[in-house]
Amino acid sequence: MDDLIQEMKVSLATTFAFYLKAHGFHWNVEGPNFPQYHEFLGDLYEEVFGAVDPIAEHLRTLGAYAPASFLRYKELSLVSDEVNIPAAMSMMNKLNSDNATIIEQLTKTQATAEKNKKMGLANFLQDRIDAHEKHGWQLRSITKG
Ligand SMILES: [Fe+2]
Repeated sequence: MDDLIQEMKVSLATTFAFYLKAHGFHWNVEGPNFPQYHEFLGDLYEEVFGAVDPIAEHLRTLGAYAPASFLRYKELSLVSDEVNIPAAMSMMNKLNSDNATIIEQLTKTQATAEKNKKMGLANFLQDRIDAHEKHGWQLRSITKG
């Protein structure tokens, strides 16, 4: 079970880091497509933020504490922090790449949940994978060409 708890902590921190980056891009994106990008990024951060609480509460259900500090998130997250304001298309490319990282992490965590016979958690993680695959489709469509 320790392996599942550790992977869930990484999934929580990575999801939070992705959420924060998308929210920051929603605030700071610029350019002729501002209205579309601002709205797209708004939908993205809201969807991903909606997963933060359930991931943390699944951790509590497993008997572990949920990390909730910038220090721990920085240690655990597979998605890097963003301190600069990239150009709009660079924002989309970064999110696309980070989104693929999240899918990889969630897939690994889901396999560990199945191994530990935590089928409810495995189903929840499958739903998160599906949501991020949809985000991936949209980000790829924006960055194509
Ligand atoms: Fe907003």
